[in-house]
Amino acid sequence: MAIQKPRGTQDFLPERMREWKYVEEKIASLCSAYGFGEIRTPVFENTSLFLRGIGETTDVVQKEMYTFASGDKGDTFTLRPENTASAVRAYLEHKIYGTENMTKWFYIGPMFRHERPQAGRYRQFHQFGAEVLGSSSPYTDSEVISLALEVCKSVGLTGLTLELNSVGCPKCRPVYREALIQYFEPHKEELCTDCQSRLTKNPLRVLDCKVDTDKTKEAPRITEYLCEECEEHFKKVQELLTAIGISYTLNPNLVRGLDYYTKTAFEIKYPPLGAQSAVAGGGRYDGLVEELDGPSTPAIGFAIGMERLLLAIEKQEAMPQFAPLKSVFVVSMGDEASVEGFRLVTSLRKRDIYAAMDGAGRSMKSQLKLANRMRAEYAIIIGEEELANGKVLVRNMAEGTQEEVMLDAVLDYVEHVMKG
Ligand code: HAM
Repeated sequence: MAIQKPRGTQDFLPERMREWKYVEEKIASLCSAYGFGEIRTPVFENTSLFLRGIGETTDVVQKEMYTFASGDKGDTFTLRPENTASAVRAYLEHKIYGTENMTKWFYIGPMFRHERPQAGRYRQFHQFGAEVLGSSSPYTDSEVISLALEVCKSVGLTGLTLELNSVGCPKCRPVYREALIQYFEPHKEELCTDCQSRLTKNPLRVLDCKVDTDKTKEAPRITEYLCEECEEHFKKVQELLTAIGISYTLNPNLVRGLDYYTKTAFEIKYPPLGAQSAVAGGGRYDGLVEELDGPSTPAIGFAIGMERLLLAIEKQEAMPQFAPLKSVFVVSMGDEASVEGFRLVTSLRKRDIYAAMDGAGRSMKSQLKLANRMRAEYAIIIGEEELANGKVLVRNMAEGTQEEVMLDAVLDYVEHVMKG
């Protein structure tokens, strides 16, 4: 059997890529309005970056990483399952903290998680993410949430929901953790096997379990355990979101799947996507830079799943119809005319005009058919006789009219009629 792409990966052919480019351009233009500069980091990093950054007890680290050994030094590397840890690694490696008070970065690229594939969940997927390092202000939380929503809206999505929570900080979370353990311990046997082990290692993750949803309804809520600082911060974020007209629902069970979060956590959902409706997720990670041996640096960010964003646009039928590129087809009869035609096509391309020819010696009728199929706006027809007189015919394909033009003036002529 012919070789096929690995499970959970996708090929994007030119038509689909045009849609991706459209979305990426919207993202880039909004990011620049919000003052974010683009970064690219390697698709693989030292495994220890993710172990320390994302947390050893998370599903991502325990079950989903693509890790491989490389070289003879015994080093292991991992295909990045997300980009936040890498962004922080780059921030530290380039000592950006020494040159900027606040750093605003965005990225778009492939991520890798060995998950069970289904609609909207892949093993290679793409994220657009944005990270702000160096600000503890609740204004930054609201700014970042606003950017995530604006990106979704800019591609035509409506009916999005924003879920908000605070997951506290190292001061208040241990107390909450204890309360959760005490609450669940007497019913431990009733929890799913994953949650039974989560209860000791990472009890907050029990709240996020898709199997045990009923058992978490009456559980203690983190918002009742927040320290004064976290509570104030959370209130201010809500006040600022309201001030800029962003509505949200509070979800005390929103704990997110990565360990680095502190204070604000949020998700944006597009409910028509069903099981994989989380289009974006993010939050504050005030301890991560220090965890990775950097200076204490508050930070916040989010990532949007590009495939899910595109699925949502499709569901909403919000993808614009793209007009075919304006093009010129050069029709040539005979060897000498074909060489001249090839010269013309090359010169037109240098002038940024999409030009093509056949070159297979087909009849004029077949070549005009090809011109029609590619929806060429103009055809330049070069016959032996025209060539001998230093002339060509320029045919307006839609109108079926044609004009005789001097060969040495045809480039300027076509450029003029096509670009106006
Ligand atoms: P995350 O929630 O793991 O967060 O992923 C963010 C988004 O990526 C999800 O909401 C979803 O749209 C998409 N996504 C995740 N896994 C898959 C998958 N297997 N297939 C398709 N799409 C997927 C992060 O990755 C954090 N780094 C976000 C962040 C940035 N937090 C702070 N800064």
